[in-house]
Amino acid sequence: MSISTFLRKKFLKSLFFPSHNRGKALPKNFIKLLEEDPGCWDLPELPELGSPSASFGLIKQSQDNFAEIFNMNSCWFGVNGASGLIQSAILSIAKPGDYILIPRNIHICVIKICLVANIVPIFFDLEFSEVTGQYLPIKREWLNNILDNNLIKYEKIAGIVLVNPHYQGYSSEIGPLVELCHLKKIPVLVDEAHGSYFLFCEGIGLPVSAVRAKADLVVHSLHKSLNGLTQTAILWHHGDIIENDTIARNINLLQTTSPSSLLLASCEESIQDWLENDNLKKYKMRITEARFIFEELTRREIPLIKTDDPLKIILNTGAYGIDGFSADEFFYKHGFIAELPEIMSLTFCLGFSKQKDFIEIFVNLWKKLLTDIKPNKILKPIKPPFQSIQIPEIPPAECLLRNSCKVTLMESIGKISADIICPYPPGIPLVIPGERIKKDMVEWLIEQRIIKQDLLDFYINVLIT
Ligand SMILES: Cc1ncc(COP(=O)(O)O)c(C=O)c1O
Repeated sequence: MSISTFLRKKFLKSLFFPSHNRGKALPKNFIKLLEEDPGCWDLPELPELGSPSASFGLIKQSQDNFAEIFNMNSCWFGVNGASGLIQSAILSIAKPGDYILIPRNIHICVIKICLVANIVPIFFDLEFSEVTGQYLPIKREWLNNILDNNLIKYEKIAGIVLVNPHYQGYSSEIGPLVELCHLKKIPVLVDEAHGSYFLFCEGIGLPVSAVRAKADLVVHSLHKSLNGLTQTAILWHHGDIIENDTIARNINLLQTTSPSSLLLASCEESIQDWLENDNLKKYKMRITEARFIFEELTRREIPLIKTDDPLKIILNTGAYGIDGFSADEFFYKHGFIAELPEIMSLTFCLGFSKQKDFIEIFVNLWKKLLTDIKPNKILKPIKPPFQSIQIPEIPPAECLLRNSCKVTLMESIGKISADIICPYPPGIPLVIPGERIKKDMVEWLIEQRIIKQDLLDFYINVLIT
């Protein structure tokens, strides 16, 4: 089967990213563009258009318009996902040799840019739920304790990255966290990949966006949490700690020389769509409907986990001794395609289109799942064995230059990793280059079956010392 044939495959329910639900919730103007004259929209960087980092053209005008609406200094569209813009943002905060503070649930794109730019990540741990096996949102006191830790050498910290909301939708009160970092004179980048729509949908009990909280830099993934095409994103800049020109330069540095005009139009239309009153009313209705779905499923005794994002429906499979990976296979087989399986849960993304029949199908499949899958009575999440603060023993970038060899996971114990171990989704690294692989880490990986692969057959590169 060709790729293009597969792209037309129909599923019973597509409950994954991108959130436009296979076109149903794309902005009307954008649908018109796609339909009218297929392919005509694929243009090079003509002078009238420009590009995200250019100082002229329609793209610049559109970016300036959105920045003004939200009282930001500037913003830039991105065509290499939130990943690309997060990486440009990090280069705008830290120089080679600098340290950045990052939480343990950081996205892999941050580690990749640290590797190529010789920036050293300092990990800080997060609170963990023994019930769901998921990280919990950061509270101000928690961050304060982290920032007061003696291992943190302030003179070398160039900035902090906060992930808010988490993949599953847990959200901190972001304002006090930004304020605390600013009190300590630490620039803040918020990876708000999963929370773009919070900025547009205010006054209905959603978390406050980091754009409103005046973080220095905020990145939105427009395909995960707005109705843009895959790879669309936006970076927002506020304040005077980081210079505008530095960011534009770093966007230019990492961006392709041929940014897709279609993706750039999708960035613009997905944001514009949420600025129009009638559309906003419709989206607010979707959020009300999502809350109703949660309540109704709970009323029908389906075990769900509540987070701060109503569009994420998280099935607590662990409550019935079923791991999220087996549940994912079951739902996939029935055409009900989820976004994120984890040890204790399975997350479905409702997206922005109307979810007809969701409740009935879900309830029926859940009942069938309970009869089809044997529960595992000893299923229990174990906290990953991370320390409160962890600094790689060797700067990750240095590991790229040193000789390494491939060994089995068991043989890697006690050695320094030259690889990233990272299940996807959610794309959160468990081990990065420069970290020593400890016995408790390997035992935890095996115990929690985090890597969906035969672990006895799993190889990893370690440094030859
Ligand atoms: C928290 C977080 N940040 C950033 C990204 C990267 O987003 P993108 O896929 O748009 O590059 C992801 C992707 O899963 C993510 O979960």
